Amino acid sequence: MNRRESSLDAVEQIRHADNHTWFHPWEYLGDAGQANRTQVQRAEGIHVYDEQGQRLIDGPGGMWCMQIGYGRHEMAEAIAAQALQLPYMNPFSLTSATPVRLAAKLAELAPGDLNHVFFTTGGSTAVDTALRFVHFYNNLKGRPQKKHIISRELAYHGSTYLCATVTGKDRDQNWFDIQSPFSHFLPAVNPARRPAGMSLEAFCDARVADLENKLRELGAENVAAFIAEPVQASGGVIVPPEGYLKRCWDICRQHDVLFIADEVVTGFGRLGHWFASEAVFGIQPDMLTCAKGLTSGYLPLGALLISERLFQEVSGDNAKGASFGHGFTYSGHPVCCAAALKSIEIIERENLLQHVREVSPYFLERLHALREIPLVFDTRGMGLVGVVECTVRQMLESGVPEAELYAFETELGLRIDQHCHELGLMVRPLTNQCVFSPPLVISREEIEQMFDILHEAILRTQRDLERELGLALR
Ligand SMILES: Cc1ncc(COP(=O)(O)O)c(C=O)c1O
Repeated sequence: MNRRESSLDAVEQIRHADNHTWFHPWEYLGDAGQANRTQVQRAEGIHVYDEQGQRLIDGPGGMWCMQIGYGRHEMAEAIAAQALQLPYMNPFSLTSATPVRLAAKLAELAPGDLNHVFFTTGGSTAVDTALRFVHFYNNLKGRPQKKHIISRELAYHGSTYLCATVTGKDRDQNWFDIQSPFSHFLPAVNPARRPAGMSLEAFCDARVADLENKLRELGAENVAAFIAEPVQASGGVIVPPEGYLKRCWDICRQHDVLFIADEVVTGFGRLGHWFASEAVFGIQPDMLTCAKGLTSGYLPLGALLISERLFQEVSGDNAKGASFGHGFTYSGHPVCCAAALKSIEIIERENLLQHVREVSPYFLERLHALREIPLVFDTRGMGLVGVVECTVRQMLESGVPEAELYAFETELGLRIDQHCHELGLMVRPLTNQCVFSPPLVISREEIEQMFDILHEAILRTQRDLERELGLALR
């Protein structure tokens, strides 16, 4: 057997074993056993290589986590050096220089007085920690009724039980028993879906009023926190109207409701700043969750940052003898923290935040230019994160049943994805939307290539549909 045949065999073996043994995150079980996923064999810079050896631009940047690009030798070296020096340390009773340095660095980079860092294993556990801290905090302060959490429809805060209770995406609500008496959802804040004729300002007023009304309904004395992604990521890259977050933050402060900014996606340069809360939206959250770009996806790690004020309110004499009885075996894992420190060093040394600020206007210009294609319904984005949403308007207008439209639109995202793949781009189809959050190191020329491919892929999909449906899309 020659080498080519043996590697083809290996590809087939992996495909078979993957189809039959690896139960993937968010797996669509209708396809179980025949998903035939793309196999990513290696990666370099902004590109991944599939099992055919084809080079693809990594449009979604892994899962919105690849900031510094693939194949960084110094990341591998930092990880190896830490693994050799100290691969593990019990964080419940000991400490060590690497996690301490990272905690100090995060406190320095974070806005305001977010000085206390609780390390977790990822974004979900960071959100869980925030919610558990909120309840712990109010119990200690002697107001056990102040427990309700306000979130928003289409929010994604993770997949553990607790953070799923504040996740507002329909599919998360299906088939799981995740109802919580403490969770409440405000309507989604997607300006593209505002009623016809409503101005952006009026839409913003209405969504801010949703928060005020909910506080009135529940009684602010019963509401512990409001949790929000500054830009809702997997809900469809929903950028709130100007001023919305700031006004919500003001309302929270007026009512002694904590503001939790979930910056799992928006942190570490995605919007051109270490964190988006203050630098982009002018808010100073009481707690901030981060993960993903913290290590550029090289290793799993998350963190909850807590304000000095909150920390002091439950510390020393205020602690009333309590411990915060929450933690993970891998909290502050030294190897993951070494990866985070190196990734942050690279972002600083290569001025990647400045780079994002420089290239993102072009990224957004090209993204929004896609609107001229009839199949494109909407484009949204900020910094280096964006989405293109497609639909056949004639179908929308003809009042096709919801389930049928959903199936058609899911297929639509997959069709675009397939054309993109043929042309050398990986996208992340979310039903009828394709999401982009490329590695921050992407150059202007590479952004140009990415959108040239996407443009062509959408046109090809549109031509296919026109042929199949026998109509001209408009
Ligand atoms: C805003 C937000 N919060 C939390 C999470 C959960 O993070 P993880 O998958 O690392 O648990 C995600 C994941 O996509 C996210 O986008």
